[in-house]
Amino acid sequence: MKKLITVVAGIGFLVGAASADVASDQKDLIGYFKALKPNVEFADYTNGVYAYDAGSRDQFEEILDGIPPYEEAVEKGGKEFVKFGLNKCAALKDPAAARVKHPYFDEATQKVVTLEGVLKACYLEQTGKKLGSNKGKIARISAWISDQAAGEKVNVKVEGAAANAAYNQGKAYFYGKRGEFNMSCADCHVYNAGKKARADILSPALGHTTHVPMYRAKWAGLGTLQRRYGGCLKNMRAKPISSQSELMNNLEYFHQAMSNGLEITDARYRK
Ligand code: HEC
Repeated sequence: MKKLITVVAGIGFLVGAASADVASDQKDLIGYFKALKPNVEFADYTNGVYAYDAGSRDQFEEILDGIPPYEEAVEKGGKEFVKFGLNKCAALKDPAAARVKHPYFDEATQKVVTLEGVLKACYLEQTGKKLGSNKGKIARISAWISDQAAGEKVNVKVEGAAANAAYNQGKAYFYGKRGEFNMSCADCHVYNAGKKARADILSPALGHTTHVPMYRAKWAGLGTLQRRYGGCLKNMRAKPISSQSELMNNLEYFHQAMSNGLEITDARYRK
């Protein structure tokens, strides 16, 4: 126990500027996973299920050794970023900084702003057309933006009463039971992390947002974090919620904050 506390305290400084609530929630989560898998290093949580399952990790590393199936799409996203004039929007001028800044709570609108939300608004401004939320162009461009920030750390800030309320709604949603099976996100990604669910091994929630948008073999393409939320909600037979809605964004706000201090990575392959 003493050792566990030392480890958790050592990680505490990484959380840095985040408010006390976020820091203590994350400390609890890290402590939980440290007790569950004492040999898994904090930094390894960027690797999701591969941090817990040596078998699928081999496959993952083989894929990363070659040309990952998303490489071309991400490159295309970089070209599209310029082609559609997204580099002209103030919020996206410095792509690496944009990845690190989002999601954040905007005091002016009293809402969480996600990176994809900014991409949609900027795309509309520049082209007069709507951009989807889940896959295709938005996922390619967002993945390219994320790649510019690879190696930097997730650092979601939750400051002030309204930001805390948004964060708390996301947290309550994550831990709340719903759907035909009466399950919560946490039931799978906290309490049963590392265990098998049908053909899959359940990944820990810690680090879930470090490699987004992710490529999935099942999708044969890239998808945003919120696309993935939609998929899990469907598997839970829960009421769907729209991508980029306030509730989805608050869920993302909480969920990303739980990855504070972990490195953003371009290793975005998942089954
Ligand atoms: C019945 C179990 C179950 C529940 C409940 C569940 N998921 Fe999942 N989720 C999975 C499985 C299985 C996968 C694929 C294997 C893995 O990475 O865990 C997955 C993958 C994910 C991933 C991708 C992880 C990665 O490393 O890329 C995210 C993000 C995620 N889930 C979020 C959620 C959220 C948010 C909720 C609640 C709305 C939720 N899940 C509820 C089973 C579940």
